[in-house]
Amino acid sequence: MDSRTRNALASVARLYRFALLAASAPVVLAEYFRSETGSEYGVGFVDKVALAAKMLRNNLRIQTGSTFLEHLVMATKALTIPADEEGCLVECGCYKGGSTANLSLVAGLCDRPLEVFDSFDGMPDPAEDDREHVLVKSEQIHTYDEDAWGAPIEEVQENIARYGDISVCTFHEGYFEETMPSFEEPCALVFLDVGLRESAETCLRHLWPRLRPGGYLFTHDVKHMEISTLFFDADWWRATLDREPPGLVGAGSGLGLHPESNGFGSLLGYIVKAPDSSMFEMVAETGEGENCVEIARKQ
Ligand SMILES: C[S@@+](CC[C@H](N)C(=O)[O-])C[C@H]1O[C@@H](n2cnc3c(N)ncnc32)[C@H](O)[C@@H]1O
Repeated sequence: MDSRTRNALASVARLYRFALLAASAPVVLAEYFRSETGSEYGVGFVDKVALAAKMLRNNLRIQTGSTFLEHLVMATKALTIPADEEGCLVECGCYKGGSTANLSLVAGLCDRPLEVFDSFDGMPDPAEDDREHVLVKSEQIHTYDEDAWGAPIEEVQENIARYGDISVCTFHEGYFEETMPSFEEPCALVFLDVGLRESAETCLRHLWPRLRPGGYLFTHDVKHMEISTLFFDADWWRATLDREPPGLVGAGSGLGLHPESNGFGSLLGYIVKAPDSSMFEMVAETGEGENCVEIARKQ
């Protein structure tokens, strides 16, 4: 096949993927565009269209490891947290600030601070058993070198100042192991995009106790079996945080946001901290034989 045919086929494939993405948007973004989402913050339909457009633009302008659809899913959950409940948004692992700029826009709309943790010097040297990760859904093996995904803090801040809302951001520069032990703010939503199991463990050890009940913890590493399994590792959770493992929505394949070769997927998954029954109310009972109770978060 000559290069012109190859380029033409690649363009058709790109167009096809874009059409699929556009066609699935009403499903993927249904919760985002629901009138209740954001209503407590005075964020209406027009604000949401503007936010989505800015996030898409930022994704195109800043080299970013995650996608604006993934950022919109986090925005959706941030906008559903009751406005009178305290807590900041936290990002662990920002690279050049593409996801940070988008999260800062959401934090600004919700009137919450955004706490940004990164070495701003890339990954630490991975431990021997953290060097190679298996991504079964993508049929890939990922390896990291020390300093991978490094971007200087000046570049990150410049990107956020230009495309996001830097007024809500606080930067914690250094390895998580050094910067997190003294962090004591209550958290409403945490986003981990850290690449290494050891880094994810450090973030969970320090931030889980700070996450308020009903708060969200997202991870952008759900296809990494080494990281997904951490959320089901009973020994680790009992020994480190004195509780049972919470599990992970999207473990292994991610939330179904993007068309992929074997169905829809992404790198994003999440858990809700202790969604105990007192926070929810029954809205309907359905099913015969196997009973199913529909619940909704109490407003
Ligand atoms: C995959 S990148 C983040 C991508 C970014 N969220 C985006 O969407 O563009 C991973 C980031 O985690 C940071 N990181 C990983 N482990 C770390 C650790 N133990 N301490 C500090 N930073 C760490 C790296 O410096 C890097 O910026």
